[in-house]
Formats: sequence, C-alpha cells, structure tokens
Amino acid sequence: MKIFIDTANVEEIRRMNDLGIIDGVTTNPSLIAREKKKFKDLVTEITGIADFPISVEAVSTQADAMIKEAKEIASIAPNVVVKIPMIEEGLKATKILARDGVKTNVTLVFSTNQALLAAKAGATYVSPFIGRLDDLGHEGMQIIRDIIQIYQNYGYRTEVIVASIRHPLHVIDAAKIGAHVATIPPDVLRKMIGHPLTDIGLKRFLDDWKKVQSMQ
Ligand code: E4P
Repeated sequence: MKIFIDTANVEEIRRMNDLGIIDGVTTNPSLIAREKKKFKDLVTEITGIADFPISVEAVSTQADAMIKEAKEIASIAPNVVVKIPMIEEGLKATKILARDGVKTNVTLVFSTNQALLAAKAGATYVSPFIGRLDDLGHEGMQIIRDIIQIYQNYGYRTEVIVASIRHPLHVIDAAKIGAHVATIPPDVLRKMIGHPLTDIGLKRFLDDWKKVQSMQ
C-alpha cells in the first residue's frame, strides 16, 4: 500500500519524506488555509520536495471553470494531481480532464456508488473519506471493501485513496483490504512509528552498553 501524507505543511512533508516512508501528498483547501502562505508559492514548494504525486484541490463548482482551474493548477508542476469534488459538474470535468491528460483525484466521496461513477468518468484516484463516515456512526471502511471489490470485478484502474484517516487502526484495516493508498495525517504517522516498548528497550540497551564501556 502506498502511503501519502495528508498535510500542506512543508516541514512535516520534508520530515516524513526524509524517513523514506511516503509516496505522495494530499492537501485540501482547509489544510492549505492552515499554512497561511500564498497558494501558488506553497504548492510550488511542496511539489519541489519530491517527484511524487501531490493532490491539490480545484474550488470551482462548474465544469468549465473547474477544467480551466484544474489546468492552471496542473501547470504548476508535472507531479500535481487535481482534486475534483464528487458532484455532477465534477464528473463532467473529470471526464474531460482524463481525455486531456490531467490526473484527477475525485474527492469528498462518501458512498460506493460515487466511487463507481468517479472511476467510470476516468478519475486517476478516488478519495473516500472514511473518518467522516465513522463520525456519523457509519462503518467507513465497509465502503473501501466494496469499492476495491467492484474496481477489481471490472478492471478499473482508478486507485483508491483511503482518506480522512483518524488513527493507526484505520491504516491497518486499509492495508488488509488491499487499498492502493492511505493518506495519513502527520500525527497518525508519528503514532505508527513509535511504540513504548521500543523506547523502553532502547533505553535498556543503551544503559547496558554504558556498563560494557566502563569495563573496557
Ligand atoms: C484527503 O484527501 C482529505 O484531505 C482528508 O483526508 C480529509 O480528512 P478530514 O476528514 O480529517 O478533514
């Protein structure tokens, strides 16, 4: 499973990229707003970190405007993927962008049917938001199982990005199902790296090593 980092924070992206554990980045307008930087400067900075896919969202809601905006965003760097909201106009735009060679990530997906339609329209990626479904008392991960099965049944090449991940168990479940990608916020990535027994074990080894050195 590929791991994308779900943030627009340049320091966090660099830090995790240096660990060799991430394969891409997803952003959204809320994550971009948090950084308090000029949009184009920020996207340019992120795309320069590594040659992996960076999802950046178009905010227009009419197909023609979305297509224009998507092409402008895509022209920032070759590794940009344009996020398109899962609405009727978004599907129309996705189809044309696929024809024109612009990579898309159909976002704000909350049902299996939406994911099926996004794949039919030619989306490169689809992003079901499982945490927000869990928040409402639904089992978000169930739609991932269903989408993966349907894509396999019909050979769709659209990759499923498990999005709106809240905790490390979501990542394990996504990987067990065979999702193509999990996009993970930095705090969840940190929780995946650390374990108290690793810290205790390392401290004990280092303390014992000091004893070995004192005997030299
Ligand atoms: C993914 O592309 C989205 O940016 C993100 O996962 C949304 O997560 P949230 O529900 O925590 O805002």
